[in-house]
Amino acid sequence: MSNVKTLTDLFETELRYAYDCEQKLVEKGLPSMIEAASSPELRAALQSHLQETRTHVARLERVFATCGCEAKTKGNDILDKMLSAGKDSAGHIDPSGLRDWALTINGNFVEHYEIALYGSLAAMARQAGFPDAAAVLEETLQEEKAADAKLTQIAQTLSVGGRAASASAAAPGISRGRGAA
Ligand SMILES: [Fe+2]
Repeated sequence: MSNVKTLTDLFETELRYAYDCEQKLVEKGLPSMIEAASSPELRAALQSHLQETRTHVARLERVFATCGCEAKTKGNDILDKMLSAGKDSAGHIDPSGLRDWALTINGNFVEHYEIALYGSLAAMARQAGFPDAAAVLEETLQEEKAADAKLTQIAQTLSVGGRAASASAAAPGISRGRGAA
């Protein structure tokens, strides 16, 4: 970290975490969530966000170019932990509305993280004198916020079968992998 001395250095570092995050979401995060989802509406929303996420990767490459930085990834452990926690919790629930609820919760975690990341990146880009990059990052920020709201909205429509499903949700074995955090 000693090589991070200026706001531009910090911006570049966070940009690389975002680049790693978006690539992992395209390659494995979103496809495995789509595969685990039962609700056609949830699957469609995740598919559409997968398309958007491919755009987010391309936008980050534009931002790297605009700022004169090399487009490189930096291993994003936060995202890795969220993906493995999501896989763990969905893996303990049979395909159902309840599993879809778990998927929307894990999706919300990822979106909130991305909202924090892009909000900070856009602010740093403005401050560091890259207004064009800030505008591109802001565009992605808005899409992450919309994806987060869509997941929450879909969760409200999922059928979980009342109290029986609520009781099984408390079954032992469900973990978000917090022990590893
Ligand atoms: Fe994204």
